[in-house]
Amino acid sequence: MADDLNDVTDESSESSEALIAVHWRDEGYYPPPAAFVAQANASDPAIREQFTEDKFPDSFTAYADLLTWSKPWDTVLDTSNAPFWKWFVGGELNASYNCVDRHLETHPNKAALIWVPEPESEAHQAITYRELYVRVNEFAAVLKDLGLKAGDRITFHMPMVPELPVAMLAAARLGIVHSQVFAGFSGTAAGHRIADSGSTVLVTIDGYYRSGDLLDHKVKADEAVEAAAKEGQQVDKVLVFRRYPGQYSAKTPMVEGRDVFVDDLLAAHKGEIVEPVALQATDPLFLMYTSGTTGRPKGCQHSTGGYLSYVAGTSKYYQDIHPDDTYWCMADIGWITGHSYIVYGPLALGTTSVLYEGTPNYPDAGRPWRIAKQLGVNIFHTSPTAIRMLRKVGPDEPAKYDYRFKHMTTVGEPIEPEVWRWYYESVGKGEAVIVDTWWQTETGGFLGSTLPGIDPAKPGSCGPAALGILPTILDEDGNEVPAGSGKAGNIVIRNPWPGVFQTIWGQPERFVSTYYAKYNKDQKSTDWHDWPYFAGDGATQAADGYFRILGRVDDVINVAGHRLGTKELESVALTVNEVAEAAAVPVIDDIRGRVVEMYIALKPGFAATPEVENKVKMAIETDIGKIARPKNIWIVPDMPKTRSGKIMRRVIAATSNFTDTGDITTLANPEIVEKIRHQVQSAKLAKGEVPRELSESELNEIKSFGSE
Ligand code: WTA
Repeated sequence: MADDLNDVTDESSESSEALIAVHWRDEGYYPPPAAFVAQANASDPAIREQFTEDKFPDSFTAYADLLTWSKPWDTVLDTSNAPFWKWFVGGELNASYNCVDRHLETHPNKAALIWVPEPESEAHQAITYRELYVRVNEFAAVLKDLGLKAGDRITFHMPMVPELPVAMLAAARLGIVHSQVFAGFSGTAAGHRIADSGSTVLVTIDGYYRSGDLLDHKVKADEAVEAAAKEGQQVDKVLVFRRYPGQYSAKTPMVEGRDVFVDDLLAAHKGEIVEPVALQATDPLFLMYTSGTTGRPKGCQHSTGGYLSYVAGTSKYYQDIHPDDTYWCMADIGWITGHSYIVYGPLALGTTSVLYEGTPNYPDAGRPWRIAKQLGVNIFHTSPTAIRMLRKVGPDEPAKYDYRFKHMTTVGEPIEPEVWRWYYESVGKGEAVIVDTWWQTETGGFLGSTLPGIDPAKPGSCGPAALGILPTILDEDGNEVPAGSGKAGNIVIRNPWPGVFQTIWGQPERFVSTYYAKYNKDQKSTDWHDWPYFAGDGATQAADGYFRILGRVDDVINVAGHRLGTKELESVALTVNEVAEAAAVPVIDDIRGRVVEMYIALKPGFAATPEVENKVKMAIETDIGKIARPKNIWIVPDMPKTRSGKIMRRVIAATSNFTDTGDITTLANPEIVEKIRHQVQSAKLAKGEVPRELSESELNEIKSFGSE
């Protein structure tokens, strides 16, 4: 099958560098085109001098200076309550002001957002900064009227419509902490997050388009309110936007007293202006939930001043955003990428940010390129999964459309060199730089990436550390793994940076234990040098300083760039009455990177039927959402276990991936391995799920899955 990672072409074998641990042949370098360098925000390598370790933390004031502050900060970095870092202490600002109001002086009539509805019969909508200002103010007036104020939380369960950034900026205007839940998540998942954050108001929409269907989204609000109530959190108001104002597109009835149409509420606040509240730099701006090793998602809390500075700075130097660019990040605002690099970063810089409602290949694989051509997009940002998919279904489509990108981004998962080259040659037409940006929900913005006007790109590597970031690779004992050693280890960031999240909402101990405890030797230390940030990713560093990210070292499966916790999936499966044990494992997938397969053992007396399988599927869809639906569910007679009763996830992961199960002599029930292998693999072959040969890093990942 295609996409063999070892399959590198001659052009890319010129580098003299040693082979790295995973034995991928090192790739060649792709220098930026002269035309790009000539206009780049960063084209002089001397910029790195401003961000060296001896200049830390003051170096990051260069990012903070991109914003407008109502009161300057006194202290750049306060480490007194390590590792709860405080950036720009004493400073005051407002994110909504910075993303909207301040651009009215220079370019009120320029498009802030261009929204592209999925149906091609519907025209796109350009929303100028002036119009955005009006809409944000009116919605802020609505929120204020509900009694919401700085520090309160509000949950959004919104798809890719302009009302979402409007709502975010309206909340930010008042200091209300927003928590946007990806629209593809189920109502129940939204409900868990409402309860965790303590929101009393939910903002939703009646419907939106996905792959040609106008989905009923309002039904999820009812589920969300019910799920939150079960956890003791009452939702007083559900604000319902309408996809077509004045016309209700959902079948689910409105609940009297609780549900209100936003367009009705707005009518009472026409033209109202709400002054932006001056907030402390350290006040929270939003929560973004992400999966971890336990069943409960973590609400990553991001700050106002540090976060906004960091996304503005990285948008400027890494996305190379200029005010006259048309920038399109084809991610969803429901994820951190959309928060940082659709809304806050690009709007803080006053550029035009494109929002697309639908799926990339609807109605065909030419859609993204038609949008790019029509809107004159010149910076394009997407994920490896989307690139793999567009390459598979429409490899020749980009050539049919006359658009020109100067810059392209990839984010969220490792990208295979083969796929990188299609992105470069076919999508970028050999004229655009590519940045492969490595970062996380927790980190707010990019940690590893090439500076596009300075560094050559190297397919499969994210590149060196971002400006001011000091990463290193450590082994399990905390020893440094040197660059060029050919060995992999845990990537850590030695220093704090302004974009780093402040805490896990309501779980400060978990914040410390998950991200800082591993390599901290003195819990009382207030010296940042003692608190390396543990990212949870395996990586290698080549002799040239470029990092290659190998993937998660914890029990998280990265499906199409979305993090799913195995424990989260398993605990949902266990809610099905018949299920005694459940184990989720990753399967290498050519499009989605990884997909999930679930193994189930039943309680005595229950038979393996398609109904049980279906119940598990439904439970996952209901509790988490369709994106988490396992590709296969295997009901097995027993799980392979150690003598102490622990499920050996690596053995079933090997089974699902057709790889060697390794040593099974230490199992309590080794005979089960062959039974399961026969059951699963013959069923997979019958379905046409033929395995391909895996690369060495993929083999390693499967071999060590769940070993922690
Ligand atoms: C993975 C997405 C390789 C990594 C912004 C990380 C990547 C997790 C890259 C975070 C990349 C992200 N190359 N792997 N360029 N970017 N990852 O929180 O495992 O949804 O820890 O944030 O995605 O996913 P999250």
